[in-house]
Amino acid sequence: MAMVCLTDFEEYAKEHLSKATWDYYAAGADECCTRDDNLLAYKRIRLRPRILRDVSVSDTRTTVQGTEISFPVGIAPTAFHCLAWHEGEMATARGTEAVNTCYITSTYSTCSVEEIVAAAPNGYRWFQLYVYRDRKLSESIVHRVEALGYKALVLTVDVPYTGKRRNDIRNQFKLPPHLKVKNFDGVIQEAASSEEYGIPSNTLDPSISWKDVYWLQSLTRLPIIIKGILTKEDAELAVEHGVQGIIVSNHGGRQLDGGPATIDALSEIVDTVQGRIEVYLDGGIRTGSDVLKAVALGAKCVFIGRPAVWGLAYKVTINVVCHRPIKLRY
Ligand code: FNR
Ligand code: LAC
Repeated sequence: MAMVCLTDFEEYAKEHLSKATWDYYAAGADECCTRDDNLLAYKRIRLRPRILRDVSVSDTRTTVQGTEISFPVGIAPTAFHCLAWHEGEMATARGTEAVNTCYITSTYSTCSVEEIVAAAPNGYRWFQLYVYRDRKLSESIVHRVEALGYKALVLTVDVPYTGKRRNDIRNQFKLPPHLKVKNFDGVIQEAASSEEYGIPSNTLDPSISWKDVYWLQSLTRLPIIIKGILTKEDAELAVEHGVQGIIVSNHGGRQLDGGPATIDALSEIVDTVQGRIEVYLDGGIRTGSDVLKAVALGAKCVFIGRPAVWGLAYKVTINVVCHRPIKLRY
């Protein structure tokens, strides 16, 4: 079958992945209202097409944190890529390197950061970080990724606790024994008192607050990007705390059900930030026109989460022909 849009990859993945894996990737919190609204919100926004503008040459390049990428779509951090394809995050890294965009590696990767960097040595990458009760653990991961050439830290702030994902509870979903969160290998002791998805969950620190941003800044010279902001008030605080970017995100609707669709939250944040730092967005991006709407409303770049794991599940080596399209002629 010809694969012509992301929904085709979604259907393929649904058919070929185990039910428990599919349910985990698809999950939203509680009644999934926010997860679903992330997509529906794009359909409520209409374009005002202007005509007779010379579009014979277009250029999709942009920059993020001063680095050029081929087009304003990067890969959001998602956990457990080896569930979809045995080469997991290494394959994701190769794909993003080939198309010259940004790959945000999740802390919860099933390949180690060393393996990911070795698989695609010239890729442009940021690292997504959680703050642990054991600050030394966060500190060691920060130093590790900095030494490996990661170019920014993405601090995820919307997981003080994991959202209630009903199917995961029904399926008692956990990482199968042959897979591991490899970044923790030899760093975290197994068998913490509580586990989520087969990984120790009592390590995440629900008490983190704005002062921890200063702590993170004291550890690293990398730019810090806060992922999970949905209001103008928090956007202003982010700017005041001296971070370099914001990802408007609701974690794909997997955390707080009842919050806004990200595209609906974008404008108030862009208006408040006034260009002082870069604003990005993720959640529900499924088509080129979704990207256009987000960029038109002020996002510097968007990121896709689930579609990347659907792509991994497709298990086909695609010869990427658009290495550096730069000038596209139609
Ligand atoms: C995520 N997300 C996520 N975010 C993060 O900061 N660290 C993580 O480890 C994960 N893990 C994760 C796993 C899976 C299966 C999903 C679907 C999502 C959230 C992710 O970065 C992003 O915010 C959303 O996925 C964006 O929404 P879409 O593109 O999936 O609609
Ligand atoms: C998730 C966690 C791992 O959304 O961030 O599944």
